[in-house]
Amino acid sequence: MSNQIQWYPGHMAKAKRMMQENISLVDLVIEILDARCPISTRNPDIQELAKNKSRLVLLNKADLADINKNEEWKAAFTGDGMIGAVINAKNPSCKKEILQLILEACKEKIERDKRRGIKNRPIRVMVTGIPNVGKSTLINLLAGRASAKTGNKPGVTKGKQWIKLSQNIELLDTPGILWPKFDDPEIGEHLALIGSVNDDLLNMEELAISFMKQMDRDYPGILEERYGLSKEAIEQDMQENDLLCKEENKRYVAMLRQTAFARNALVKAGEPDVSKAAKLIIDDFRAARLGKISLESANK
Ligand code: G4P
Repeated sequence: MSNQIQWYPGHMAKAKRMMQENISLVDLVIEILDARCPISTRNPDIQELAKNKSRLVLLNKADLADINKNEEWKAAFTGDGMIGAVINAKNPSCKKEILQLILEACKEKIERDKRRGIKNRPIRVMVTGIPNVGKSTLINLLAGRASAKTGNKPGVTKGKQWIKLSQNIELLDTPGILWPKFDDPEIGEHLALIGSVNDDLLNMEELAISFMKQMDRDYPGILEERYGLSKEAIEQDMQENDLLCKEENKRYVAMLRQTAFARNALVKAGEPDVSKAAKLIIDDFRAARLGKISLESANK
């Protein structure tokens, strides 16, 4: 998948250089985060990179995320020179709101220009974010046509083009590609769950078990309901089978086995395909078939 890129030190240095170069040209930086895990999809250096710029933080893919948590995140990202907003870049009705927010975030600059008698100087804007958060989708939405280059290769130089969004707003046509924080295992896990890491590199069973534990804590009962898992069947599975895993994971392995039975995912007669069940649960989360679920909370 093109959105799942491998980062190497050379890539990062080049991406950072491009970002610095482009940021110097704009008044406002739009930072896109995934509303389901804003911390994990946030670039660790953005505060430094975008200092002295107006900032708009868009919590995208809000259609997939927990409505209450979206509101908490919006509040958490508002203030300190930033405006936070919750959006769905696939929904054209968000465009008007975003254009208004751009003006609001640049109010001071607009007023300063006015005081100094500067007329018709456009506000220049760029969209930034780590891969897969929806940068191209947003640029396409704002530009009103399929204009965003899907340039996910860090450091690919293209001629800079400005797209006129309104009388006084211009958007850089290529997004700034940021990198996630690599060294935190929980962040890696959340990025994997939202599909921003190549699945081939992942142990889907481990990932599913970790997700199921989080679901037990934050959204209890949802998995049981979706896959028709009874408490008794899970208990029985744990007792009758010698599940080769850590004690704390037994319940989740039993749930995976029962999910596989429920979905008729078998490796052979009577033997559940646990890998398939793991993938099924993760795919259901990614497509919001388990409901609107967020992996991170602002109020913790
Ligand atoms: P990027 O430039 O930041 O790398 O992200 P891009 O716009 O390519 O979006 C990544 C994926 O996320 C795309 O899905 C896109 O449709 C989806 N997406 C973007 N914004 C939203 C949103 O607000 N809600 C939802 N539900 N999805 C969103 P894809 O499957 O890779 O492509 P496609 O099949 O949609 O074309």
